[in-house]
Amino acid sequence: MAASRRERGQRPAGRSVERRRQGRFPGAIRLPGIRPTALPARDSAGWYERAVFYEVFTRGFFDSNDDGVGDLAGLRAKLDYLEWLGVDCLWLLPHYPSPMRDGGYDISDFFTVRRELGTLDDLVALLDDAHRRGIRVITDLVMNHTSDEHPWFAESRSSRENSKSDWYVWNDDDQRWPEARVVFVDSESSNWTWEPQREQYYWHRFYSHQPDLNYENPDVVDAIFGVVRFWLDLGLDGFRLDAVPYLYQADGTSGENLPPTHELLRRLRKEVEADYPDRVLLAEANQWPADLVDYFGDGDECHMCFHFPLMPRVFMAVRREQRFPLAEILANTPEIPPGCQWAIFLRNHDELTLEKVSEEERDYMVAEYVKDPRMQRHLGIGRRLAPLLDGNRKLAELLYALLFSMPGSPVIYYGDELLMGDNVYLGDRDSVRTPMQWSPDRNGGFSRADFAQLYLPPLMDPVYGYEAVNVEAQQRNPSSFLHWIRTLLQTRRQFPVFGTGALELVACANPSVLAYVRDSRPEPPDSLSDEGARRGARRRDILRQGSRASSDPGANPVLCVNNLSRFGQPAELDLARWVGRTPVELLGRVPFGRIGPAMYPVTLGPHGFYWFELADERSPVTGDEIFGGSA
Ligand code: GLC
Ligand code: CA
Repeated sequence: MAASRRERGQRPAGRSVERRRQGRFPGAIRLPGIRPTALPARDSAGWYERAVFYEVFTRGFFDSNDDGVGDLAGLRAKLDYLEWLGVDCLWLLPHYPSPMRDGGYDISDFFTVRRELGTLDDLVALLDDAHRRGIRVITDLVMNHTSDEHPWFAESRSSRENSKSDWYVWNDDDQRWPEARVVFVDSESSNWTWEPQREQYYWHRFYSHQPDLNYENPDVVDAIFGVVRFWLDLGLDGFRLDAVPYLYQADGTSGENLPPTHELLRRLRKEVEADYPDRVLLAEANQWPADLVDYFGDGDECHMCFHFPLMPRVFMAVRREQRFPLAEILANTPEIPPGCQWAIFLRNHDELTLEKVSEEERDYMVAEYVKDPRMQRHLGIGRRLAPLLDGNRKLAELLYALLFSMPGSPVIYYGDELLMGDNVYLGDRDSVRTPMQWSPDRNGGFSRADFAQLYLPPLMDPVYGYEAVNVEAQQRNPSSFLHWIRTLLQTRRQFPVFGTGALELVACANPSVLAYVRDSRPEPPDSLSDEGARRGARRRDILRQGSRASSDPGANPVLCVNNLSRFGQPAELDLARWVGRTPVELLGRVPFGRIGPAMYPVTLGPHGFYWFELADERSPVTGDEIFGGSA
């Protein structure tokens, strides 16, 4: 039987908007007069280098039709809030049909929206509204595997002779590739599972209900590229590429980061670049820095990569009250090509992974942060930010100050802007996926369905429950954490160096203090090649977009000083390079003493931090803004 165009994964005919409008879109996809969204303004190259991302678990965000499950219309209804908060790009967890045995990362159809979340129309309406507000939207794309309920797998498993027989990875025994580690060590004992129908084993890097696609088969590559085009045609701003290191296997290797995987990503980037400018590919590759940077290629693979090794070291540094783990990883993070950016985060929808720390460090983290064995999930810790910090607001502020000032685009996990809690009695990673807490009303204002109908129970404990922690109360209280984080975001936005600047560690004898300067990078010399010139011009564009006149505060370097200790600390900073400049504290615009040739003394409160603009003589540093009256 000939496979349909959709099954072959070809780009839907009628790529043009017109054909869709005329309803000539082939295939079994329900496209009721679907039209792509209007994209945001064009002149936005490199937007992701300066953006703040917000990770949304749509299921848990807001339920618009009272069936107990958050949905796309609900998310759309909350765009006012997200705009108010000041985020630039939403990252939606998988929105595809799925049996939901892995939070939707087990996809059973790549070409539509899961019914509980709404329809394709709802998605386009969300994109329209978001784009109108200048907010972009990316979603997860799971390339590595499908659900075992995907029709492709149903066919593949049915026999050894069918049109999809080698769309997945089959073997007669379960002994091949013993070097490849099992990722979900607490639930899977092997990467092979027996399939009785076909009488062979199939390969899976994650749950056994998630068979890996076989990228050696060009039809699979075409199919997935078709998926990419389908969603980009609708107007999505890009993808988080889930579990991307595992696309290929090879004898005698760990099956991670293999050359053909990178080759495939380069092909993907090329296609995206050619037809969909300004979209972003964000790699989820939980790897050591040296392997991680390969996902940027020479600026010709992914635009962004999560900085996995950085994340646990933030938690390590504040618990040890020593900068070493952070300073070390910052110093060991290789330079990345122009046009590339790290995505940095404190927490996400998964466990706090401890894969990329030494065994000793892992033991330390478990000893410090796992108070109950239930909190351990896979090779990590299934907890949210606030409970990890014992609800310590000062410490949470410090962690966000680090997140918003270290090199990379920060990603906030929904609810963490409120310091929401978790529920470690729920299975797998549901502990950190409970409903967003909007108000003290029934179900935390998340849904008007009966409590028993909710996809997960909202938090109701006295410390983190929705009566104590919710958006409404925090919006009403100007000194809430929510207002604080919003102010910090606004401050960050005024200084493009936070996004695109270089980082220089500042010497300081006190090991509890971590100080660095973010400053614009020297312009790369234009090479003779067209490509070099193009990149140079692009970088200048980006700097120009974010920069201002030389007297404008936004153009100056920013000194960040962080006290990782719970006690007050003195620090003497070596700021010789900046002699003559005046540090102006950014939240209050208070000028501190001018930098002279001697060490620069700063006193920090417990878990305190400062962001100082290093103003030169031309900058207005009179402090007029706070003391009132103009000069
Ligand atoms: C990624 C996702 C995780 C999922 C896994 C398997 O790591 O973040 O939630 O379980 O891929 O799809
Ligand atoms: Ca709903």
